[in-house]
Amino acid sequence: MGIVGAGPAGLTLARLLERAGIESVVLEDRTREHVEHRTRAGVLEHGTVDLLRDVGVGERLDREGIVHRGIHLQFAGARHHVPLAELAGGRGIVIYGQTEVVKDLIAARLESGHPLLFEVADVRLAGVETDRPRILFVHAGAQRELECDVVAGCDGFHGITRGSIPSELLRVYEREYPYGWLGILAAVAPSIDELVYAHHERGFALLSLRSPELSRYYIQCAPDEDADAWEDAHIWEELRRRTALDGWELEEGPILEKGVTGMRSFVADPMRHGRLFLVGDAAHIVPPTGAKGLNLAVADARTLAEALVEWYAGRGTAGLDAYSETCLRRVWRAEHFSYWMTSMLHRNGDDPFEEQLQLSQLRYVTSSRAAAASLAENYVGLTTIMA
Ligand code: APR
Ligand code: PHB
Repeated sequence: MGIVGAGPAGLTLARLLERAGIESVVLEDRTREHVEHRTRAGVLEHGTVDLLRDVGVGERLDREGIVHRGIHLQFAGARHHVPLAELAGGRGIVIYGQTEVVKDLIAARLESGHPLLFEVADVRLAGVETDRPRILFVHAGAQRELECDVVAGCDGFHGITRGSIPSELLRVYEREYPYGWLGILAAVAPSIDELVYAHHERGFALLSLRSPELSRYYIQCAPDEDADAWEDAHIWEELRRRTALDGWELEEGPILEKGVTGMRSFVADPMRHGRLFLVGDAAHIVPPTGAKGLNLAVADARTLAEALVEWYAGRGTAGLDAYSETCLRRVWRAEHFSYWMTSMLHRNGDDPFEEQLQLSQLRYVTSSRAAAASLAENYVGLTTIMA
């Protein structure tokens, strides 16, 4: 197996295959340092946590991960609790940074002695329509070629593997949003017990965390804004205004990192061409409001690993043939949920009609048990369509 990309998708797939006795080579174009220090989201679904434990990388996660059984939705000056676990059959979420998941998976891979190459360059695919696909790349100054049974394209949205699917065979669905998130990591104890998603006339805000000493906060901004143009005091001021509540204070602290991310929905269909299988962000992107990106990548990796195990064991290609369709069912559910959460919570220009719809939806979700249960089962991860 050739695996292009050492993000959550590629590393999880490699680990699953390693456990099943299937050899793979992982090729990553960045440095280990870079991959281990990209700040990304931090909400793990129950199913993701179970899988990471099953493949032997759950130890630090169990020690440092923080279990949350609910979230707060804030709008019109009040905060409403959504008891996720109570509404979704006891399942909650675990707060543990994606960066930490990646570090744990890299450590496990290197310890196993199976190949993981960083800083490869000029990665190209050849022969994906044959039964001997090849990955051409440069490593340590030398041109190399890897002959494989199957190639997994785990190289994220900006990767090259998706380009090996002829454009006339690939259908792309896409939506860009007219806003982005300015995210900060701050050295201060989180002021909240559970995540707060806040709807506000000045724009959306999200209060999250990484640990008892580290807070992760976001505010809606323009998609192309320069994070460095935001003074720290201005960021805190916006956060305070958008999350203000009587009798509650947002604690401030030194800002360690800040960055702006755009928001996009994207799906490539099919996720397979010949012997090339796309996994994770290489095939689909969700806006971060539903916290689904990493969880989808891990679910794709599991589906592909199961199909490969079946195939290598001589039990046929049914799993591989169904791979794209199986993944896309879960992907589209997450696409809808992420789009829905995003549309419900963000200010979209000056549109009083849309604002009233948002407020109506927020009142409904926080007052109807049926509506809250629908949000909860999507947020913690739908098990029924994951089979
Ligand atoms: N060759 C080798 N590696 C590449 C190439 C290339 N041409 N292009 C990109 N990569 C690497 C990137 O450096 C990155 O490490 O592929 C990896 C892709 O990882 P991610 O972007 O993290 O994507 P994925 O593993 O699918 O994980 C999805 O991560 O991006 C977040 O929000 C996303 O949470 C989601 C999750
Ligand atoms: C985060 O902690 O980074 C985070 C949490 C919830 C989201 C998105 C990001 O919806």
